[in-house]
Amino acid sequence: MSKRCDIFFPESKGSVSVLAGTNLLEILQREGLPISSVCGGKGKCGKCKIKVIGETSPPSEIEKKFLTPKEIREGIRLACQTKVLGNVVLYPFLKEEKHRAKILAGGIEKKITISPSIKKEFCEIPVPSLGDSLPDWERILRACGLSYGRGSISLLQRLPKILREINFQVTIVRSKDEILTVEAGDSSAHCYGVAFDIGTTTLVGYLVDLRTGENVAVVSRVNPQRSWGQDVITRIDFVSRSPDQLQTLQGVILNVINEMILDLAKQAQILHHQIYEAIFVGNPTMIHIFLGIPPDNIANSPFVPVFRSPITGYAQEIGVRINERGLVHCLPLVSGYIGADIIAGLLVLPSLSSPKSSPFLFMDIGTNGEMVLGLSGRLIACSTAAGPAFEGGHIHHGMSALTGAIEKVAFRDDVHLEVIGGKAPVGICGSGLIDAIAGLLDLGLITPDGRLLPPEEAPSHVPTKILERVERTDSGTRFLLYRNEDKEIFLTQKDIREVQLAKSAMKAGIQVLTKEAGIEMEEIKKVYLAGAFGNYIRKESAQRIGLLPIADLNKVVSLGNAAGIGAKMCVLSYRIREKARQIAEKIEYIELSGREDFGDLFIQAMAFE
Ligand code: FES
Repeated sequence: MSKRCDIFFPESKGSVSVLAGTNLLEILQREGLPISSVCGGKGKCGKCKIKVIGETSPPSEIEKKFLTPKEIREGIRLACQTKVLGNVVLYPFLKEEKHRAKILAGGIEKKITISPSIKKEFCEIPVPSLGDSLPDWERILRACGLSYGRGSISLLQRLPKILREINFQVTIVRSKDEILTVEAGDSSAHCYGVAFDIGTTTLVGYLVDLRTGENVAVVSRVNPQRSWGQDVITRIDFVSRSPDQLQTLQGVILNVINEMILDLAKQAQILHHQIYEAIFVGNPTMIHIFLGIPPDNIANSPFVPVFRSPITGYAQEIGVRINERGLVHCLPLVSGYIGADIIAGLLVLPSLSSPKSSPFLFMDIGTNGEMVLGLSGRLIACSTAAGPAFEGGHIHHGMSALTGAIEKVAFRDDVHLEVIGGKAPVGICGSGLIDAIAGLLDLGLITPDGRLLPPEEAPSHVPTKILERVERTDSGTRFLLYRNEDKEIFLTQKDIREVQLAKSAMKAGIQVLTKEAGIEMEEIKKVYLAGAFGNYIRKESAQRIGLLPIADLNKVVSLGNAAGIGAKMCVLSYRIREKARQIAEKIEYIELSGREDFGDLFIQAMAFE
């Protein structure tokens, strides 16, 4: 019989038993414990650090590349490279993330007229008699003024009891001609909907009152799928290996969504089965995995999703914990990389065709960069692999916007840092990274071609304390952002190259859009930034590194979590949902990898001007 090992988690006071030889990343994923895993366990990112005491496989060559000898002596290991051989004690570095992440839920709200598709009505139905022997179901239809209506066998099975429970006084819940459920007595005062933005990094859920349009509650979480890779490609790679692995990641997202629904219901002091409709938006990969649909072909040319049109199903069928007969909708997609989140974000814009704001540019910068150019009613979109650099991936000391991340860097006589949570820094997130590069460009320590100058080549005006931070090492020049006795955080030449690649991909994409629309960049009247990154970056820094290709920053509007707000609008109005469908159909998608000019534009955009 194979040997079993006990794994103890002293901080969560739990333990599990696993087969000897199981790797630590797999254990943490299975137990739902947060772990940073940019590369999904391939030994390429060095982010899955964990402290372990006990009998394990010896440090691999990969670990020796990412860990210092001191870290190895202290029991720090890469979870994806370490196998358990006996009983061990594990100390994950990431704590329960729901309380620690800086997640953007709010944003610019648009005034709408509500027209929910769910109607809930209290009816006193005539009691059957010898003179009125209409069947129960037809009695319900008659109360709704319908000669024909759709229902379900499960409802018919329960209907006689419900009708007779309070003497034929019932509340009918319906969506157009479909009777979703019938409840005993008068429950018409409670009719709710939820809207979810499933981001690659974060999840936000909103609870709204479908009768009044009121925002009732909001919750957010870090997407637990991050333990299987930071970007969509790594997650597609994981789920495409077997149907079980797709089911694993679908289960992970459904579990957390259902937890969030219960949290929303708890906050609002309602019952989760009083929620009758749910809207989901997200990028195409996130939506495919959420629905358990294989996203494999999105990762390979010609990048084809399984579906594009809006999807509607029953909560029970999908496994979403609202009323089991409630409806679940996913907004439409446009392509393998332009998803329902972009469509929802566009719904929030004041107008898609007003001459006052047209042409406009809509940008959502995250692990991918999606852009839509609007011009006199035309919508042209593209997506670039911005890479996870702006989310801290592939950056030596990069991390997401969690407690301990340097989120702001200012250069005066010395470097001044702002850290999320106000504690000692443990890494740097996208907004801090862009500030740091912009500041070093201003000082002339980074050249326009992206080279970090060694101390001897630094311009003479650089303040001494800042100059002392430039260090020459065997692996190249680096800039020290923070150091104490156990931690140092620096910016490497490779980090600067990663940011250069990401920003030039974005800029070249925008140039393709303007070329396609036949306009110059200067003609753009508004730039709308959607998502957390667009909200937290300093616009001046983004402009300085060339990520915001616009001279007048007054034209830039941060929308906040436009995807979430747009999703909320769709649960409150079926008319807006229809508009979302029309927008998706109207978008002209440009696949950049199929454009001959993209490569040249990309190379030209590499320089920091
Ligand atoms: S090196 Fe372990 S997850 Fe990337």
